[in-house]
Amino acid sequence: MRRLLLLLAPLVGAALIDTRSSHLENCSGYKAMNIREQGQSLTADLVLAGDHCDVYGTDLENLKLLVEYQTDDRLHVLISDRDEEVYQVPTSVVPRPDATSHHGSNPNIRFDFEAEPFSFRVLRGDEVLFDTSETSLVFETQYLRLRTWLPKNPYLYGLGEHSDPLRLPIKNYTRTLWSRDAYGIPENTNLYGNHPIYVDHRGAEGTHGVFFLNSNGMDIKVDQTDDGRQFLEYNTIGGVVDLYFLAGPSPKEVAKQYSEIVGLPAMQAYWTFGFHNCRYGHRDVYDVAEAVSNYSHAHIPLETMWTDIDYMDRRRVFTLDPERFPLEKMRELVDYLHKHDQHYIVMVDPAVSDNNGAANRGKGQNVFLKRGGEWYQGAVWPGVTVFPDWFAPTTQDWWDGEFARFFNPDTGVDIDGLWIDMNEASNFCPWPCQDPAAYSVENDLPPAAPDVRPSSPRPLPGFPADFQPGKSSGKVRRTAGNKAGLPNRELVSPPYQIANAAGSLSNKTIDTDLIHQGEDAYAEYDTHNLYGTMMSSASRHAMSERRPSVRPLIITRSTFAGAGAHVGHWLGDNLSEWGKYRTSIRQMLAFAAIFQIPMVGSDICGFGGNTTEELCARWATLGAFNPFYRNHNSIDSIPQEFYRWPTVADAARRAIAIRYRLLDYLYTAFHRQTQTGEPFLQPMFYVYPDDSKSFANEAQFFYGDSLLVSPVQDVGETSVDAYLPKDLFYDWYTGAKVQGKGANKTLTNVGVTEIPIHIRGGSIIPLRAESAMTTKELRRRGFEILVAPNKKGYASGSLYLDDGESLEVENSSEIQFEYNKGRLSIRGLFGYHPNVAIEAITILGQDRPRKQARGVDYDAARQSVTKKVNVSLSGPAEIDV
Ligand code: GLC
Repeated sequence: MRRLLLLLAPLVGAALIDTRSSHLENCSGYKAMNIREQGQSLTADLVLAGDHCDVYGTDLENLKLLVEYQTDDRLHVLISDRDEEVYQVPTSVVPRPDATSHHGSNPNIRFDFEAEPFSFRVLRGDEVLFDTSETSLVFETQYLRLRTWLPKNPYLYGLGEHSDPLRLPIKNYTRTLWSRDAYGIPENTNLYGNHPIYVDHRGAEGTHGVFFLNSNGMDIKVDQTDDGRQFLEYNTIGGVVDLYFLAGPSPKEVAKQYSEIVGLPAMQAYWTFGFHNCRYGHRDVYDVAEAVSNYSHAHIPLETMWTDIDYMDRRRVFTLDPERFPLEKMRELVDYLHKHDQHYIVMVDPAVSDNNGAANRGKGQNVFLKRGGEWYQGAVWPGVTVFPDWFAPTTQDWWDGEFARFFNPDTGVDIDGLWIDMNEASNFCPWPCQDPAAYSVENDLPPAAPDVRPSSPRPLPGFPADFQPGKSSGKVRRTAGNKAGLPNRELVSPPYQIANAAGSLSNKTIDTDLIHQGEDAYAEYDTHNLYGTMMSSASRHAMSERRPSVRPLIITRSTFAGAGAHVGHWLGDNLSEWGKYRTSIRQMLAFAAIFQIPMVGSDICGFGGNTTEELCARWATLGAFNPFYRNHNSIDSIPQEFYRWPTVADAARRAIAIRYRLLDYLYTAFHRQTQTGEPFLQPMFYVYPDDSKSFANEAQFFYGDSLLVSPVQDVGETSVDAYLPKDLFYDWYTGAKVQGKGANKTLTNVGVTEIPIHIRGGSIIPLRAESAMTTKELRRRGFEILVAPNKKGYASGSLYLDDGESLEVENSSEIQFEYNKGRLSIRGLFGYHPNVAIEAITILGQDRPRKQARGVDYDAARQSVTKKVNVSLSGPAEIDV
């Protein structure tokens, strides 16, 4: 009998879902009444039009509509409950744009509606961007549904975090948003963060964006009806309909308009663009030191060394393993790095072992989540843990205090940046978590760290004697391994179940029926998706307390819309597989160009599983074009520092040399994004929005506006079919002109240490004349200005300079270069003096030497001319080349 019931259960479930969705078809929706237009806004009451349909909760009978023309390019549509009892994303976490100061007076998009049943459209000229007609709005206590019709075959992007194609599938596609610890970052599942914005690109008809500001769990469905009509549908388990429409009309404009809502991304320090190395599974501090030393032996520039949870005493945050990572040695390591102009970063997790100083101090300050007056417990790396409640009024103080104590430059570990993880929040104990100790990894450790020492140990130059090989402690790894919202809701198993890949809402995370502290008493059910972003801003605050004048680097795993204003993001636990190497490009593009988190990168060479020499070499070259460039590896994988294989070392040296010569170009374009929102890293269609062949391209990308990167895609390949839009390009390596024909071009003989790069005609790129072992040294190099003229012989570019680290920049230079038929002009603002000059100017695409200019060398192979100069970067200049 039991067996029969089990067999029948899914059928009963399916039948229930069917009845529910057919029931949804009959929901009568709302009618608009008391419509009032005032200036640039419109309000109305929305009243339930017919009987309740109560499909996944109870229909709310009275809603209200607010439409605001906030700027000429931004329209805000908010449908909330009349009494404002329903949870809304707290403004303390996602501040809203100021809608009072700059009302759109000449709007480029407009709102249009039907009163009964209520539906609305958003139009740009005659182009219908959003259209909710024919399918009624459903607004229930635990369910919202809103559908828009779309033109056939749409090109949609965004809706992260996911690892699905850059151009989203348009049939039978569900994008669930619910933060989840997602080892392996599989496709078609919800991952760590949440960015409910999509970009709809319609080629010549323009591009627009739609941002749905809602932090509840949701399924966004993209599909076609049986009669072939295309739609996108939001299904959420709470919150309100809070939509921002961005007029575009170009992809770049959409990016800028989105940044006006969620905030411009944080500017990063110059050094953060250097190469970073990390691994999980360092045996002790000597092991970390040895990796640092080996990089220097191999002449691979290592800017920043990282340490994972290995440094902690049994994986407890704010502690050091006294034997394997003793304080004195840690301080020596950091001193060594700093003396060599290198940096150090460690990991901090949110969950605190329920039994140590940090936990006790936190309990004293009442900062952890509670259930019924008791501390709520889960299981993470250190075993049984408690979780900070970022809404509690005292949490920031406690967090700042722990940072001040542990990361104290005088008495503790002096870190330069911070890595925060497990903040979905991740919990190893499945729901219902009755016995967290049973899920403790304290007694169930991953395999011991593999021996990462080279077979014949070498002395480590420059390190104190104690750091020499053989001095390892040799110990076996220790066993460590607004508003509460509507009342009476089902906060663990709501009637509508989103397609969370972790199963039920509370599984492997904090219980969703917990109520946060603070006046507003938010439910974790509503705010789960904000946990990582709240930890991010709290951590930024704590880091800034310690070093108030410099830009803090914080890299987080979980993010929500707007997180880029505080932090960067790494793409989480990928695998050492070619497929993940490829998908890292689309993920990076979505974060950088759409979600406004430009400081982004994957775990280079792959995190889980064992990498190969070929994959790691290719990834070392691709990684050099990730804004955030870090090799990271799992504890049970073979070591993969770049010096481990000759070809990988070679690939890394070459790629880093290119990256570093281009570092000011990167810094300039990155800085522009932090000022205007114009994306630095871009899908090809951002640069060629009318070229339909570029719309789905996710194998190549633009690094700034001037460089097209076309990585080799697969194992054993030495060629790549690169799409080249109809435009003039130059091969980075040979300088040869390459006329793009709007077709694929097979680039052959791409050695495993190389990555194809094309310079777009019309560009001027400021290069450092030579690379260096550290970014500090790099900043002492002079410049070479590389000019790649377009067909008319014209090119332009820019250079931003500052001291590379100040949070409040006092002196900076914004220099514009223009080249026209033999003359380079340099203009702009010259507030920062870099103490180095322009040493050379190179013009590509010259098929013969020029007679008119003196002192110019002609390179016949590169078809370029170079003029050695000594031009200061302190003021305008005109130079004939
Ligand atoms: C998580 C992180 C990973 C880290 C590991 C141990 O899996 O995503 O990067 O190495 O935890 O801290």
